[in-house]
Amino acid sequence: MCFEWVRCPIFAVQFSKMDILAQRVHVINEPQTIAMSKMARALIETGIDVVNLSLGEPDFDTPAHIKQAAKDAIDQNFTFYTPVAGYPELRQAISNKFLRDNNLHYAPDQIMVSTGAKHAIMNSIMAIIDPGEEVIIPTPYWVSYSEMVKLMGGKPVFIAGSLANNYKITPKQLEDCITAKSKAFLFSSPCNPTGSVYSYSELEALVKVFDKYPELFIISDEIYEYINFVGKHVSIGSFESMKDRVITINGLSKGFSMTGWRLGYMGAPKQIAVACEKIQGQYTSGANSITQKAAIAAINGSLEPTYAMVEAFKRRRKLFLEGLQNIPGLLCNNPEGAFYIFPNIKSFLGKSFEGAQINTSTELCLYLLNKGHVSTVSGDAFGEPDCIRISYATSEEKIKIAAGRIEKALADLK
Ligand SMILES: Cc1ncc(COP(=O)(O)O)c(C=O)c1O
Repeated sequence: MCFEWVRCPIFAVQFSKMDILAQRVHVINEPQTIAMSKMARALIETGIDVVNLSLGEPDFDTPAHIKQAAKDAIDQNFTFYTPVAGYPELRQAISNKFLRDNNLHYAPDQIMVSTGAKHAIMNSIMAIIDPGEEVIIPTPYWVSYSEMVKLMGGKPVFIAGSLANNYKITPKQLEDCITAKSKAFLFSSPCNPTGSVYSYSELEALVKVFDKYPELFIISDEIYEYINFVGKHVSIGSFESMKDRVITINGLSKGFSMTGWRLGYMGAPKQIAVACEKIQGQYTSGANSITQKAAIAAINGSLEPTYAMVEAFKRRRKLFLEGLQNIPGLLCNNPEGAFYIFPNIKSFLGKSFEGAQINTSTELCLYLLNKGHVSTVSGDAFGEPDCIRISYATSEEKIKIAAGRIEKALADLK
């Protein structure tokens, strides 16, 4: 228990003011993506024109047929509590989708619908991680993975990706960090923040390692599945030897531009899906009824709006990379999916602006925000302190402005 001693000025007695918060609150950090966005918004409110490249959400409208399904759901009074694991029709649609798009065989009773992919990942960690157990996470990783594991008392174990390998891990790196305490491997492909996409042969090489450790579970976060510029997405659960121990996470937020609707799901071994239903039943209950009806329309409907969005992301990626690759000292990776660039900014650390030295990627992001009026996120948040994350989920016009501002701000560092 943590005590803070304070002096009461009137009676001059000491008393203890107990820390009212549980220890688990202190072991996690606020997501930096959200913190940076808050700061950008605060600056915008003072009248400054900031290009906000810190948030991870598509800037497109949700497709019309999905919105119509939601309106119909309200008119048809789908406004009551939903089954904890999701409407049977939606679980069937997800089961069909897994087979159609991913060659994954999850029966409807192996599907759990949740309030966003984040919720689904948290459910899976709650269901399988006991205190002290290790979860292997390749870096850079999505901000919440490590914090979710810590919240459950687990131990995140990181494998460092490198720019030279486009931030993908090798089979040797994986094998080197597996211990008797390893319980799960947690990763995203396409990856947030690097945009890296594991190909079939790269996954196959990792599967050969997993084959030697049959007790290890894999949590495969495929939320960016459709935003892939290099070919067909491959699900690790589609490898024959893996199918009974992969929890596949997906959702509507990115592929259908539905971040605010809050719907994610998992396909999992039955025992885990049932455990997640039990946990969620005591925690948040079933996901929003109207969103679930919209999700059925999204999953069963045309993917044309998604493909059009992906084409736009492709153009923006090209435009932004052209702008950033000309900046001396900025080392850009090759994002193969998602909508982020994750450049290495190490050569700028130690430089100064008007006498103030910039020593960390967080300080560089604050400098870019306050002086360049471009909001980005520090690589610290993703386990890679030499980088920053730049989202290109914004218009081509803003991308051109942002690239120019970043170039100028970095050139001003001496
Ligand atoms: C890799 C990754 N997984 C999961 C999520 C969470 O998705 P959702 O909005 O469906 O909770 C995000 C959101 O940024 C993400 O980038």
